[in-house]
Parts: sequence; structure tokens; C-alpha cells
Amino acid sequence: MAGRIPRDFIDDLLTRTDIVEVVDSRVKLKKAGKNYQACCPFHNEKSPSFTVSQDKQFYHCFGCGAHGNAISFIMEFDRLEFPEAIEELARSMGLEVPREQGRSSGPTPQQRQQKEDDYMLMEKAARFFQHQLSQHPQRQRVVDYLKNRGLSGEIVKAWNIGYAPPEWDGLLSAFGQNASQRQQLLDLKLINQNDKGRTYDFFRDRVMFPIRDKRGRVIGFGGRIIDGDGPKYLNSPETRIFHKGQELYGFYQARQQNRSLQRLVIVEGYMDVVALSQQGIHYSVASLGTATTAEHMQMLFRAAPQIVCCYDGDNAGREAAWRALNAALPYLKDGVEMKFLFLPDGEDPDSLVRKEGKDALEARFADAMPLSKFLFTNLLERHHVSSVEGKAALKAEAQPLIDQIGADNQRDQLMQELAKHLGEQDKYQLERDMAQAESRAGKPRQDYSKPAKATVSPIRTMIRLLIDQPSLAGRCEDVQPELLSQAALPGLDLLLDVHRYCLQHPQANTARLLESFREHPHIHHLSKLMTQEHLIDSTLYEKVYQDSFAKLLDWLLIGRMEELLSRSRLGPLSSEEKQELNLLMKAHNK
Ligand code: UTP
Ligand code: MN
Repeated sequence: MAGRIPRDFIDDLLTRTDIVEVVDSRVKLKKAGKNYQACCPFHNEKSPSFTVSQDKQFYHCFGCGAHGNAISFIMEFDRLEFPEAIEELARSMGLEVPREQGRSSGPTPQQRQQKEDDYMLMEKAARFFQHQLSQHPQRQRVVDYLKNRGLSGEIVKAWNIGYAPPEWDGLLSAFGQNASQRQQLLDLKLINQNDKGRTYDFFRDRVMFPIRDKRGRVIGFGGRIIDGDGPKYLNSPETRIFHKGQELYGFYQARQQNRSLQRLVIVEGYMDVVALSQQGIHYSVASLGTATTAEHMQMLFRAAPQIVCCYDGDNAGREAAWRALNAALPYLKDGVEMKFLFLPDGEDPDSLVRKEGKDALEARFADAMPLSKFLFTNLLERHHVSSVEGKAALKAEAQPLIDQIGADNQRDQLMQELAKHLGEQDKYQLERDMAQAESRAGKPRQDYSKPAKATVSPIRTMIRLLIDQPSLAGRCEDVQPELLSQAALPGLDLLLDVHRYCLQHPQANTARLLESFREHPHIHHLSKLMTQEHLIDSTLYEKVYQDSFAKLLDWLLIGRMEELLSRSRLGPLSSEEKQELNLLMKAHNK
């Protein structure tokens, strides 16, 4: 594992970056007043509601709520993980990304060079196989096979499908001139070595499907037999650049076809993905001869709002679907719908799309079984709720499954459904109402992401203004949120953290501030605040900020006054308390 990227470097990177350039190189921006605008790349729209602010180094879409800094934009647009986005940004500026030392220090320059060379060789191998498809004496047999399977020349080209020749040393003689080249071919599992040390091609006489990673680099191959004996598919084994649990065949191509995918379908085979695209369905992916992993699920949930998982209708298919559901639960996201499609007996998506056509298959996707239905159908088959014991067993199995779900709405919906099956709907409703009433009473530690009403509290206003203009903290020295520490006000912890950051980093802008809070436990609240449009004129920032603080102090005073007054009704106050009450009354009447 690579070491952590130092915070300072990220900070420095953002200071040197201009988000307008980063976005503009991917989506053409137009100047509009102080800001820049474009049609949002993250949802379909005709008039631009995607805005980039140069001051704040921040983008925001008023249509779909997408927002963030340059790093977030690269993550979303290029579909990269955080460290990859940093690498990308650094590369565009000619910088090397340093890694913190430690037991898990990052790749050395040699290792990095090795990887570059590996990707290059894999790409060359893919071209070699493609070339064989048009040149090899046996090519006609392969071309006939592909035609037979309904694939056009264009589709074969679009997927870079190739042919591994039947010779023992086709690839080997093309790329294995010296010992170090042969070692690299071995490392990448493009060739094998037998007990006697003899080397030979791993793939022979097979139709070759290059597998690309999220960034489009060839990292492995799947090879299908054409006729004769042997396993139907042979896949590249895991190598230093190929990790099956993290990759999906067709993911890169689906993203290339459409930047704002509405649906992704996960199928079993390479041929399914290619056949679907031949029929105009460009949004399917396949796992690489392995079960779908949690990492696959996370990848999918990030990429589209609807995920349809296709399985055979038989028992094995249902079991695979159940395993996928289990892997997915912890990573479900609100706003993303996961569905299950069980195929008719003996059909796969390839055969079905050719039989029924695109529209009929898409109708099946649209009608696929929602996760909640699949979950409860499965559970209720095993637990009969007509008895008390059955109900208890259902609860014992369902509760821990549902508890894993991080997405509030989805978890809540499934809890309600479970309560219905248990006949405990009223009880569940009551508990929920009580939890909500408690949070309205303003108890400390409440979850203020779900406020009773969407009124903008002074604390939220202050946080929002600080995010917009971090220098505000230093300019308004009288505003000292620590004075409120006694108050157990919801959101105060976050305000204190943001305020402290702003005092320490008076030069920071919105982008840098949010970057520092990327791993903060309350980052969701910050993000939510950013998506709410506020109509405060920038010339009034200081005043509104100070007024909000004054209002909070006032609340605090009143709270303390009331406390002292009610105590005085129960018994005499100490002389210090009396003095305090006097001061408070005076301050309040000022
Ligand atoms: P299937 O047997 O369902 O094949 O395997 P398919 O995709 O329908 O292939 P065609 O239509 O006969 O060409 C599904 C997936 O399981 C893996 C491959 O990833 C394949 O795409 N598999 C299958 C193997 O890895 N090895 C095998 O021998 C068979
Ligand atoms: Mn098939």
C-alpha cells in the first residue's frame, strides 16, 4: 500500500490550481458575471446551472446539487479515487506526489516506472492480438465465429477484440527478445513457464477481450475458446497491475459513452457486455469470472443512480444474487436504487437481447425486482411469520442485515417494512416519533442533519459564511464561538472546528477549507450547507456574521438567566449567582 499523501502537499496543490482551468479543459465554460457557467456534466440539462467560482475555487450545480473543489471535480468527472485524482492534478502541473514515510511507504520511482512499462506492454499485446485478427492465416475461422455470434466489424473494433494465434510462441517471439522482457511477460502472465524452464504463450487460439481499468489502461485479458477442448474462458491471473475484485469489464467504455449514466447493468460474461452494446445498450459491465465484491458495488453506486444486477433464474443465480446483496448493503447510497433481474431459464443477456431486442430487454431492466422485495421475499421464504418463533427468527436475521446499511433513507424504509412483517408497525412508528421529538428538544449530540424544520439557524449561517469567506474569522475578532461552549447547541462542535481552521488559515479559500474537512466526521453537514443557496450579499457578510453570533450569545444569556431564575424559586441563590444574574439582566436589557 502506498503511504499517505501529506496534507501540506494537497493544500499546496490546491493553491496552485485554478479550478476554472481544470473544469474548462473538460467542460467548456462561459464567463457569466463574476463566475463561469456550463451545462452540468453530472446530469442532463438544456440550460446551464453549473457554476464555477474562481474566488472560492469551488463548483456548484443548482440543478443536481453536485459541488466541490478541483479535486472533487476530477474525482467525479474522471471517476477517480481520491489519491488518483491528486496524482492526475499533480501530473497536469508537472509535480511528483510525495508520500509520507512509514511502514507502508509509497511506490519508489522504479516501481512507478515499472507500472508505466507494464501498461505499455499490455497495450502492445492488445494491438498484437487485434493485428492477428486481420493478418493471421487462420483469421477467417475466427472472423466467421464472431460473425456467427452476431458481432459486426465495428463492434469488434470498438472493443478491441483480437485473436491469440495457435502457436506456442506468437506473443513470445514478438515481445520476448531478451531475458528482462521475458521476465516482464511472465510477471504479467502473458506467458507461462514449465518445469523445465521453457516459456510459451499463455493464450493460444482464443478470441481475446482486453480488460481495461477505470482509466482505460489494458490490465488483463479474457480469452474464449473457438472450438476444441479446454476451458471455455481463460482469464489473466492476478498480477501487479490486475486485481479482479476491483475491476469490471466494460466500466471504462460505459463511462466513455455517457458521462451521466442513469443506469448500469451488471452481467456475467464478456460476451454479454459486447452483445448488449452491439444492440445499442451501452451501459453494461461484467465481473471478471469472480463473484461481485464490495469494491465492485461501491464503484457501481458511485457511477449511476440505478444498478441492475442480472442473474440466472435458477438456484445458483439466486444464491449469487443473495451474496451480492450482502456485499452491497454497507455501501448502499440514498438516491441509488439497486435492483435484481432474474433471467428466464437457459437465457443470458446476450441470447435474450438477440431474441427479444433492445426495447424488450430494457423493459425488463426497468421492471427488475427492487432490493427490498428481493430481501424480504428471500427472508420470508425461510421464516414463517405466522408464528411467534418465526417472527423472532426473521427479526434475528433481518435486523443485523439492515443495521449495516449506512444510507439513512434506505435503512429506514427497510426497517419499516420489517416492522410491518413483524406486526410491530405501531411500535416502530412510536419509537421514531420519540427519537424525532428528542432531537427537536435540542438535546446535545443530536443528529442535526435532520432538523425538524429547514430554518437556517444562526450557527448554520455562521458556518456557511465562514466557508464562503474563511478570512471572516480573523476580521471579526469579537466573534468568539468558544464563548458558546456551555450551550450544547447543535452544530456548535462543527462551528468551533471551522472557526479554528479559519483563524489558523486566514488565506484559505472555500476549496482549501473543504479539502481540510474531507475526512471530518461532519463533512456531510458542510456539504449540505454548501448546496443550500443563501442570498446574503457579500458586502453584508461581516454584519450578518456578527449579528448571528450576537443572537446566539443572547440565547445563551437567556438560557442561563432562566436557569438561575428557576433555581431562585426553589431556594436562595449564592451571592456569586446573584451577582451573575444581575450582570446577565443588565447585559440582556442593553
Ligand atoms: P458463461 O459460461 O455464462 O459464458 O460464463 P458466456 O459469457 O455466456 O460466454 P459465451 O456466450 O458462451 O461465449 C460467464 C463468465 O464466466 C467466466 C467468464 O468471465 C465468462 O464471461 N468463465 C466462464 C470463466 O472464467 N471460465 C470459464 O471456463 C467459463
Ligand atoms: Mn453466453
